[in-house]
Amino acid sequence: MSETTYEYSPGLAGVPCAKSSVCYLDGSIGKLQYRGYPIEALAESCTYEEVAHLLLIGELPKAAELAAFDALLRKARAVPATVLGTLKSLPATTHPMTALSIGVSSLAAHIHGDHQKSAAFRRDAAIQLVAKLPTIVAAWERVRSGKEPISPNSALAHAANFLYMLDGKEPDALVAHTMDVALVLHAEHQMNASTFAARVTGSTLADPSTTMASAIGALSGPLHGGANEEVLKMIATIPASSPDTIRAWAEDRLAKKAKISGFGHREYKVKDPRASILQNLSMQVFAKFGATPDYGMATELEKQMATLTGAKGVYPNVDFYSGILYSKLGIATDLFTPIFAIARISGWLAHWLEQLEDNRIFRPNQIWTGSADRNVTQLAAR
Ligand code: COA
Repeated sequence: MSETTYEYSPGLAGVPCAKSSVCYLDGSIGKLQYRGYPIEALAESCTYEEVAHLLLIGELPKAAELAAFDALLRKARAVPATVLGTLKSLPATTHPMTALSIGVSSLAAHIHGDHQKSAAFRRDAAIQLVAKLPTIVAAWERVRSGKEPISPNSALAHAANFLYMLDGKEPDALVAHTMDVALVLHAEHQMNASTFAARVTGSTLADPSTTMASAIGALSGPLHGGANEEVLKMIATIPASSPDTIRAWAEDRLAKKAKISGFGHREYKVKDPRASILQNLSMQVFAKFGATPDYGMATELEKQMATLTGAKGVYPNVDFYSGILYSKLGIATDLFTPIFAIARISGWLAHWLEQLEDNRIFRPNQIWTGSADRNVTQLAAR
């Protein structure tokens, strides 16, 4: 049997799988840009709605363009009663990422049109999906606690409305701003596992909701979106807050070859710039609402890890501080990854739109490691 030899890169590390103008990332120096705009400037000056426009349409909107885009988002927030009915049929123990995946898959029955030929439909579908994700996440949070979902409030901006749909209260301005910045920071991140999943599923010309459900599935794992959930659980296992205890705990974990959640990244070999922005935001939240012991433990762990793993380029990633911040905002731990999805849907959709502009179905290859040309022995003779 003849076999072409390919260079094998486990995890496809460093293998380009698309040409893209959505997101630029140079992890060696911590440079992250959405469509050429630095993440620091976007987090400082733009709302999530502006960033979603940037990612989906390609440019930051002018005031009138933003007003029109925002109006479409607000109008599209409600989800069909049958989708809410599907959520209500799930066991209360269902993980919110599973509920989100089911909710988004069921949107496929409602968001349909000619996504293969109509750019206008693709754009409409993208707006529908960005608008509806927070509604599904908030509805499941209510339903699993035995409460009725809260309808979207069209007077509130995207992030503030999500918080409102969780408990029916208009959020404090700093809390709403914090959530908005967190959504901006998580909106896009180049060719990660969930974006690749969106591209692969999209390349088969699957419908937009199914394509997004595929990305949500990829995001749900602890090596990707689930890491911020793990950070809080991990910090809770550190026996005391003294520097010596934290260092001994980290050394023990590293000696056992266990990963430290919220650290390390396939691309970044310096501190993730989003982690620094979230850390600053956390300081503002703690100054207003009081500090949390988790934060002190986290900063000490970061300090200790710099000497333990800094030489390998293992520094805090975006998930390290996001969980601590969300928990201070009173958000349930298992909602952290769904919030990541609420943000990242814009990035996934931007890649889906780009993929369909010049599509070729993904069909990679493999390095064969099995046997070949074997004879089948009849069952009775095996
Ligand atoms: N804790 C301890 N050591 C880590 C580490 C971590 N979180 N992340 C990487 N390392 C170590 C690796 O074990 C490896 O060590 P070795 O050379 O002695 O074998 C070295 O650093 C290089 O790792 P690298 O190849 O760059 O990691 P990767 O690309 O295979 O994995 C992650 C990247 C994100 C999967 C990995 O860092 C990880 O599991 N992190 C924890 C989960 C997490 O926070 N995920 C969210 C990412 S945004």
